[in-house]
Amino acid sequence: MLAVSNRDPGLSIQDGPEGETKDRDGLLATACGGLELRSPIMPASGTFSHEMDQVLDVAKLGALVLKTTTFGPRAGNPVPRVSETSDGMLNSIGLPGGGFEHFSESTLPKYLHYGSPVVVSISAETVVQFGQMAQALTLPGVAAIEVNVSCPNIEADGKAFAMSKSATASVVAEVRASTNLPIWVKLTPNTGELVDIALASQNSGADAVVIANTILAMGIDAPTQKPTLGNVMGGLSGPAIKPIILRMVYQCASKLEIDVIGCGGIQSGVDVAEYLLAGAAAVQVGTVSFVDPTALVRIEDELVDFCRSQHHSSVRELVGALEIPGHSINTAVNQMDVAP
Ligand SMILES: Cc1cc2nc3c(=O)[nH]c(=O)nc-3n(C[C@H](O)[C@H](O)[C@H](O)COP(=O)(O)O)c2cc1C
Repeated sequence: MLAVSNRDPGLSIQDGPEGETKDRDGLLATACGGLELRSPIMPASGTFSHEMDQVLDVAKLGALVLKTTTFGPRAGNPVPRVSETSDGMLNSIGLPGGGFEHFSESTLPKYLHYGSPVVVSISAETVVQFGQMAQALTLPGVAAIEVNVSCPNIEADGKAFAMSKSATASVVAEVRASTNLPIWVKLTPNTGELVDIALASQNSGADAVVIANTILAMGIDAPTQKPTLGNVMGGLSGPAIKPIILRMVYQCASKLEIDVIGCGGIQSGVDVAEYLLAGAAAVQVGTVSFVDPTALVRIEDELVDFCRSQHHSSVRELVGALEIPGHSINTAVNQMDVAP
């Protein structure tokens, strides 16, 4: 039998199926980055499509984060674009697509009828393009804009905007001036200055930061003496990156006033609980959906079971509730500076 919360004795399994549903809804409901969410679990950009409605109840998801759309059409990177690693996957997709006008006419309408908040992800090559896209995509049915700053800044040195505090701040400020929708900024873990860049996002008007995109990596196929990706290097995702991203979420959540959304290697409800304890207000789930297309719903069920077994009546009780015996949060965060 499922354990029933001792913190909120209002509804229990004895209330029957309807009471149990209300109990579950109340347990999962949360707020993040300017949105009220049915659940803290949502798909990560690029790993979800409307075709998944054949295998899972899309209306159950906290939000629908769509694949990043770019300013103009893009062909994408050379194949192979994905390869498997021992504990994750490498990808170098290169954001193929028809550009944001095609996206708003043809792609976006396919996601608007599910009832879950729709979060549009944008990427561009210049600050001005980011602003133009944010303005053009502030459309009925769009709940928030996720700004994917992990793309090259062609006006500067070609390095990703997300590698620089000032470049990220410029993009976020431009997007802030171009839309009244909540802004989520998706950051790269490929920088040693993540906390400062997250703070710069906050100070430029972001409502949340998403920690994080993939980690720059590569694979080699020894027998053929070739890289496993057509683009040689790509992004590592999946379980291999979870401890690294968890640490980054913890560091950022300890310093930021805006919400942090954790994203990296989640495979189970307990993984979600770990991210919430580290300080994430919500999470995004990517790679595991390629292994198990129903994972998003399974993970939600597991999170509910975890909360009930730990006598939590709301996922919000977990957020930032990590207990470190003998450590203040600041001491622990500063351990980053100490060599192992
Ligand atoms: C095949 C693939 C495509 C992706 N496409 C995007 C994308 O379009 N935009 C984006 O911001 N992140 C993209 N990502 C990164 C994911 O959203 C996520 O940040 C990353 O995979 C880490 O989460 P995970 O370990 O749960 O997969 C992609 C990842 C994969 C594996």
